[in-house]
Amino acid sequence: MRTLLRRAFFGSLVAFGLIQLVPYGRGEVDPPVTKEPSWDSPRTRELAVRACFDCHSRTPRRPWYARVAPVSWLVRHDIEEGREHLDFSAWDQPQRDAHEAGETIEEGEMPPWFYSPLHPEARLSESERDELVRGLRASLADALRPARRGARERRERDEK
Ligand code: HEC
Repeated sequence: MRTLLRRAFFGSLVAFGLIQLVPYGRGEVDPPVTKEPSWDSPRTRELAVRACFDCHSRTPRRPWYARVAPVSWLVRHDIEEGREHLDFSAWDQPQRDAHEAGETIEEGEMPPWFYSPLHPEARLSESERDELVRGLRASLADALRPARRGARERRERDEK
């Protein structure tokens, strides 16, 4: 029995060591911030940084355990997917899901359920949540009608 336990222990230690060699999620480098939304107030940004920026920005916090597999794999996946939907650091690019930002918070969909227990600083009180929803609606207004804005910009360009 002892030998079996010892083998299982050393076996998992080796496995843990080996998965660290998988390149996916290793040495992650964040692309540069190009533009942020025009925040309605520093407070909205502060709340978004706390609750959203780890997956929806190019300045995520990366604690040491986020660099250790298999956590690093999940982190890389979340950041990749998250930025694809909404990237607060690339506001010069189309943001296809910006209009849903407030809703996802109200519905308790964002931040994801597995994230908040591990990140106490990201947990928002009910009033902070309301504040963030209101703040995002005000700050992201310019991204809510991308099609119309695009048309206006084209018209302005043509008139020159
Ligand atoms: C732990 C990472 C993580 C955090 C923190 C997070 N998100 Fe997300 N978010 C994702 C991922 C991954 C997706 C894409 C897949 C999905 O929908 O689950 C996503 C999708 C979205 C979408 C697209 C619509 C949708 O439901 O797919 C919106 C809008 C959004 N997030 C807003 C927010 C806001 C606002 C916050 C902060 C209150 C936030 N998210 C915090 C990971 C995160």
